[in-house]
Amino acid sequence: MRAVDIIIKKRDRQVLSSEEIQFFVNGYAQGDIPDYQAAAWAMAVLLNGMTPQETTDLTLAMAHSGEILDLSSVVPVAVDKHSTGGVGDKTTLVVDPVVAACGLAVGKMSGRGLGFSGGTLDKMESIPGFRTDLTTAEFLDQLRRDGLVLTGQTGDLAPADGKMYALRDVTGTVRSIPLIASSVMSKKIAAGAQAIVLDVKLGLGAFMSTIEDARKLAELMVSIAHLAGRKAVALLSDMNQPLGFAVGNTLEVREAIQTLQGGGPPDFREHCLVVAGHMLALGGGAEDEHSGRAMAEKALREGSGWRSFRSLVKAQGGDVTYIDNPERLPSAPVIESIPAPRSGYLQEIHARLIGETSVVLGAGRIKIGDPIDHAVGIILKHKVGDWVQEGDPLFSVHARSREDLNQVRQGLLDAHKWSDEPVEPLPLFYGVIKQAEV
Ligand code: URA
Repeated sequence: MRAVDIIIKKRDRQVLSSEEIQFFVNGYAQGDIPDYQAAAWAMAVLLNGMTPQETTDLTLAMAHSGEILDLSSVVPVAVDKHSTGGVGDKTTLVVDPVVAACGLAVGKMSGRGLGFSGGTLDKMESIPGFRTDLTTAEFLDQLRRDGLVLTGQTGDLAPADGKMYALRDVTGTVRSIPLIASSVMSKKIAAGAQAIVLDVKLGLGAFMSTIEDARKLAELMVSIAHLAGRKAVALLSDMNQPLGFAVGNTLEVREAIQTLQGGGPPDFREHCLVVAGHMLALGGGAEDEHSGRAMAEKALREGSGWRSFRSLVKAQGGDVTYIDNPERLPSAPVIESIPAPRSGYLQEIHARLIGETSVVLGAGRIKIGDPIDHAVGIILKHKVGDWVQEGDPLFSVHARSREDLNQVRQGLLDAHKWSDEPVEPLPLFYGVIKQAEV
């Protein structure tokens, strides 16, 4: 087999065999196929698509490019969640401890932010001392002992995806339904959870902008999970405006702590309760998602979710005095509240523009390995549908310098669109896809 023939076949819209896909994935992972051929192939896939069978073959080939964990020998059932990426999405920080507090083991391997979307590891690393580089043995030990782990993906899990994702990021080939589905599911299959809740984001700040595309992606991932012998459910959730109010690593950790302690923004809290409810139901910890949601609500009300988060931070070397007193977490030197330039109903708070601005402030990276500033970011004060009076605080900017603040002020104002007529608030969810339906 030759890599070039496989590229040509995809370019000419033909269906690749399982052997061809395996050859290509293994060749790329082992360094026998160079980046330029993999880039050409990824672009051909982006333009010409893949059948569900090809996507499943690709997922399994990437999952088997490294170690596959079997968590069933460690805990009776391990649940996991995965978001396809968004702005202000700190859901994992709340949901995983809450689900663990309700009795199900959660073993999560998260990623870093890239481009405008944030990453759980960067957020957790705002907490001094918190380790996100556990070895596989440490991951398994902690899961067995505490029933909750939140770490980075080890190098041995789906290495082909790690390499392919970095390549896609710089070749304009991220936004492909089969490539996203196989990237997400290869990692989930390799990480070993038996029940997976997929949070598929859609809208202005998501990879999928329409409900049709988000549904296609969700159905594909749920059916791949089924073929791989895992339970899965996918939620289609809004990412037109940021989730909650805080965007930026430390700011999001503070908002997650408020939520774990029973407060937090109503939209974010509700989002977390729904996701946790589905995780509990799918993992067999609750009869259905409604009773799962009620259990999660109790865990927030009674503080068991917060205690579970605190134990997680301690177990992974984090200094809990910072989360006990979140005002001690790093703060930006320049913090300024920006007033509303007019009165009106908020019609749009463009999630991607807000996310991109947080990157300009230093909260995210332009390319892998760039250093980030955990303290900077934006705190919104309103949601779409709110009436805002001219001069009232619209958002605050946490910046490294006054120059940075001046650089982003107008862009952030432009990310807010106004209406004189009342505007409906945005829904949190657009649908749920269960395994039986695909
Ligand atoms: N998240 C992933 O893990 N992979 C993608 O391709 C997109 C989002």
